[in-house]
Amino acid sequence: MKVRKAVFPAAGFGTRFLPATKAMPKEMMPVVDKPLIQYAVEEAAAAGIEQMIIITGRNKRAIEDHFDRMPEIEQELLAKGKRELYEALQSATPNGVSFIFVRQSEQLGLGHAVLCARPVVGDEPFAVILADDLIDAQPGVTQQLVATYEKYNASVLAVQDVPRAETSRYGIVAATPIAPGIERISGMVEKPQPADAPSTLAVVGRYVLRPEILDELATTPRGSGGEIQLTDAIARRVARGQVLAQRFTGTRYDCGNKEGFLAANIALARKLGLLPGRRTSDPEEQE
Ligand code: G1P
Repeated sequence: MKVRKAVFPAAGFGTRFLPATKAMPKEMMPVVDKPLIQYAVEEAAAAGIEQMIIITGRNKRAIEDHFDRMPEIEQELLAKGKRELYEALQSATPNGVSFIFVRQSEQLGLGHAVLCARPVVGDEPFAVILADDLIDAQPGVTQQLVATYEKYNASVLAVQDVPRAETSRYGIVAATPIAPGIERISGMVEKPQPADAPSTLAVVGRYVLRPEILDELATTPRGSGGEIQLTDAIARRVARGQVLAQRFTGTRYDCGNKEGFLAANIALARKLGLLPGRRTSDPEEQE
């Protein structure tokens, strides 16, 4: 079945960016000239996804406004011949795409946020995209995962190697290669200490999941940090069916912290020719 829906968890408080995020959702922080959440939505649209399900919470109304049309301003820009700005405005609401906002009223973790989308996702495969992880890739990482999902009919997670000292920031997988860039997952742990990590292969914020994961999530107890973890629900599925890890191609910026956020701004500004320096991403510039 075609992947038509994507879930964007966006209910977190963004405490690491206070005071910037005191009155503004962290997903609205701009990288060059677009908010983080728009990069994520554009990546999903490029992968053929039609329904964007955004999980929001208190203080997140700016996200709904962002994905709404602005007919008065659009008319004015057109009338004044400001075609480029008009098109920039349009890019937030791609044709053929609809937006659904679901409220997560309690902060019970990433797994719980995804579970909030269940009534909208139903019995279909779906993508999960964490806007904090900005990934510059061609084709986009979601499209890379969708292609793998279609080939194997299995859930697939984007992974990359991280330094062992950083395993406690990620979901870490144990996996065996089955094809170039593709591995079969045999185990998963959320945020293990370096000494306990089964490998250094970390899940980054892109997933394409079969709907059974939602059944698992419904009965997944609280895990790391006292939260309901998506990693734990997927780990339970590993025992019952195939779950794949994909070493994607592209450059990831961890915009969940200040260094990664600044690196993304500098790299994308260079790419657009707004700053002097190399236009392509240089591995040394990655966080
Ligand atoms: C979440 C997931 C984690 C994953 C990470 C990627 O953690 O729980 O498994 O590795 O995203 O960014 P968070 O960063 O929300 O704490």
